Amino acid sequence: MKDTTISQSVRYVGADDKTIDLFEGQYVVPNGISYNSYVILDEKIAVMDTVDKRASDEWMENVEKVLDGKQPDYLVVTHLEPDHAANIQALAEKYPEMTVVASAKAVSMLPQFFTLDFSHRCQAVKEGDTLSLGSHTLHFVMAPMVHWPEVMVVYESSEKILFSADGFGKFGALDTEEDWTCEARRYFINIVGKYGMQVQALLKKAASLDIQTICPLHGPILKENLGFYLNKYDIWSSYRPEDEGVLVAYASIHGNTAQAAKEMAEILKVKGVEKIEVMDLARDDMSEAVENAFRYSRMVVAAPSYDAWVLPCMDTFLRKLKAKNYQNRRVAVMENGSWAPSAGRCMKELLGEMKNVTVCEPMVTIRSTVKPETVTTMEQLADVLLEK
Ligand code: FEO
Repeated sequence: MKDTTISQSVRYVGADDKTIDLFEGQYVVPNGISYNSYVILDEKIAVMDTVDKRASDEWMENVEKVLDGKQPDYLVVTHLEPDHAANIQALAEKYPEMTVVASAKAVSMLPQFFTLDFSHRCQAVKEGDTLSLGSHTLHFVMAPMVHWPEVMVVYESSEKILFSADGFGKFGALDTEEDWTCEARRYFINIVGKYGMQVQALLKKAASLDIQTICPLHGPILKENLGFYLNKYDIWSSYRPEDEGVLVAYASIHGNTAQAAKEMAEILKVKGVEKIEVMDLARDDMSEAVENAFRYSRMVVAAPSYDAWVLPCMDTFLRKLKAKNYQNRRVAVMENGSWAPSAGRCMKELLGEMKNVTVCEPMVTIRSTVKPETVTTMEQLADVLLEK
């Protein structure tokens, strides 16, 4: 278990979930996910968010243990998505004197999720509002679309803690020993990636705060080297490549396009590219392919023609990239077609809908299998792809 100690007054009461099959109904999480929640003990007591219904019992036990017979005065809701908010009604019913503190938008959305009438128990807060708990003071910072419209983050000024909602979250339960960046990047790009502009706005606000600890709603509590995490968020949310390198993303029916993609990777390697990831869009994790597209400065897409269009997993991949605001990259296109190639046209059409994506020429057209003349075009395309 990662260290969840924050301070005498600020306690972790979240829970790990290692049995969930798909997070948000779509993302594989081989090491599970944590639903983080916190309690601030002061003259007034605040519970900071709840957890997913999959972890209700464990969370309620943790909360009661930390409360030690006391009553919470506030439940602060930074995000109403059910992986954090599922237990709002349960806690409110258990503690009828407790006030729910949330953005006005969150307050207006409560009836969508719950049957309890919260109308006399809510305190709607806005940008710049504060709430004193005694020696701790909560400062509310609105963060719309990071990752829902009602989101806010909370800065506690006495201990310099940022309760960052989904921001700085990561896939993986807290007892997982793994690199932060990889699973935080996959989480960010796939879940919040579309809203880079809104994240940039939040980072600007955060820059004016003296932050010593970040308490996200998923993943480890961040206490050291915070500049590292803030810098990663700045790169990801501004759609800048994180690494010079190439993602070779392919789809293949009988293995010939896969073979061509792998040969292209070899060509790029010979030309000096150090970081190359080759991914099979039908078999590798799609969210990881999307993540890698954002990670690297360049991409090769290789796919066969199918139904006068392109093999569906490539279509899905490119549409996902567009949805996540993929931009500012150089892309090389390789199509395969045995009688009437259509994949290249389709891939170019989808790439053409993205912002500032340069489609390099000449496109490679494979007629069933790679021939010496195909390799010549692949060499030319690789050179153009690697131009600055
Ligand atoms: Fe972790 Fe947007 O919920």
